[in-house]
Amino acid sequence: MTDTVSGTSGTSGTSGAPGASDPSDAPGAVRPPADPGAGGFTEALAEATAVASLAPSSHNCQPWALARLTGERARAAARLFAGTGNRTGPAGDGTETLALAMDRTRTIGALAAHDVEMRVSCGAYWQLLLSALAAQGWHPEGIEYPATDGEGRRLAGDRWPKSWSLLGVARVRRTGDGDGSFRRLRETAAARRTNRGPYRASGIGTDVLAELTGPSAGAAADAPVAVTHLRGETERRAFGDFVARHGGRDFSHDAAWRETFAYLRPNASAAALRGDGFTLEQLFGPMSAARHHLLRTALAPRTMRVLRFAGYPGLLASQLAAIVRRTPAVTVMHFLADEPSGADMVRAGARLADYWLRATHAGLALHPVSVVVQHDDVRAALAERFGLRGRVFFVARLGHPTAQFPATPRHREAAAHLRL
Ligand SMILES: Cc1cc2nc3c(=O)[nH]c(=O)nc-3n(C[C@H](O)[C@H](O)[C@H](O)COP(=O)(O)O)c2cc1C
Repeated sequence: MTDTVSGTSGTSGTSGAPGASDPSDAPGAVRPPADPGAGGFTEALAEATAVASLAPSSHNCQPWALARLTGERARAAARLFAGTGNRTGPAGDGTETLALAMDRTRTIGALAAHDVEMRVSCGAYWQLLLSALAAQGWHPEGIEYPATDGEGRRLAGDRWPKSWSLLGVARVRRTGDGDGSFRRLRETAAARRTNRGPYRASGIGTDVLAELTGPSAGAAADAPVAVTHLRGETERRAFGDFVARHGGRDFSHDAAWRETFAYLRPNASAAALRGDGFTLEQLFGPMSAARHHLLRTALAPRTMRVLRFAGYPGLLASQLAAIVRRTPAVTVMHFLADEPSGADMVRAGARLADYWLRATHAGLALHPVSVVVQHDDVRAALAERFGLRGRVFFVARLGHPTAQFPATPRHREAAAHLRL
């Protein structure tokens, strides 16, 4: 059984989960607003960046950055909007201009496919940001994506940080007070986790899956993305076999594994201090000190280099495959194009964020299995085996979790922005 849903357009926004966990527990979450939407843009933006900083990112590296453009910079940005039907002037007309960037001091890049993951992660942040602003009454009037990364300096001159690549610009306008959805959005964003534990074997209803892939708003509207759910017994078994066969690739790729291991923090306080990466407990759930020590030693690149010859990556892949086979559904997201543009990638990340929040709202969890999309030959084999058209960029287990996982940290700048 395979369902594929292509890029959709529409008006429904990012969902939020009522009654989700206390947002003040979440990294990056800040004090609740007295009355979201009632203050000015500065207050609304502070609330929105706190929500957006909870976005998922590969290795929890949080590669995004944000600038609020004012004065001449906003006027320069307005020229990007010429011809889009949004011809009103930038200054004093009630609009605000935001620029999304990728901060190259925070990106990972051992594999070529990581560039896609970085843009997708930034897109997830972008969607949460714009949804949180819209929920407070600041709606996007236009969103533009530059053709190349190098346009930040053209837009903002020397004050544009050298390590930033401009990914997108949005103009937002206050169209009224919030619609009351902000609190729910913030709670859902705080409740969302990558959950790598076992999921209940029971299937997921087609109505629920349809809800996950329904029309999106904000940066995710009309995203050039299709979503396929693998949920038949045969397909899931076949996907498990695929993971068993190829899932060891990460562990056997020296540079990729060294980079991953560099994000593994020794304990929760080290992770909190750094504000990025994850601990073994965040990856595998609670464990004894002895198991922690053993696992950390076994996963260290130096050990991996030795154990590689004893078939260790294959063993880890078969463990991942076993958990994959017991999962009721596998979510596959693919671009409509074989060679997506940078803008497609950001918009795809926005769609992913929308999907993940809806899943959280429905009580479902996701566990990405990116190893099957990170190597060209493996990705091509995946597409052929499961009849997927367009470049696959995200594959994850989907199901009802049976255990809770601790939140990963966020670095302080994750919720910050630069005023230019
Ligand atoms: C594009 C993308 C790819 C990811 N790939 C993997 C993966 O292959 N394996 C995994 O365990 N987690 C993966 N993750 C999850 C991140 O590690 C996770 O989002 C990050 O550690 C923050 O934790 P959180 O999602 O619980 O907030 C991926 C996330 C994104 C956005």
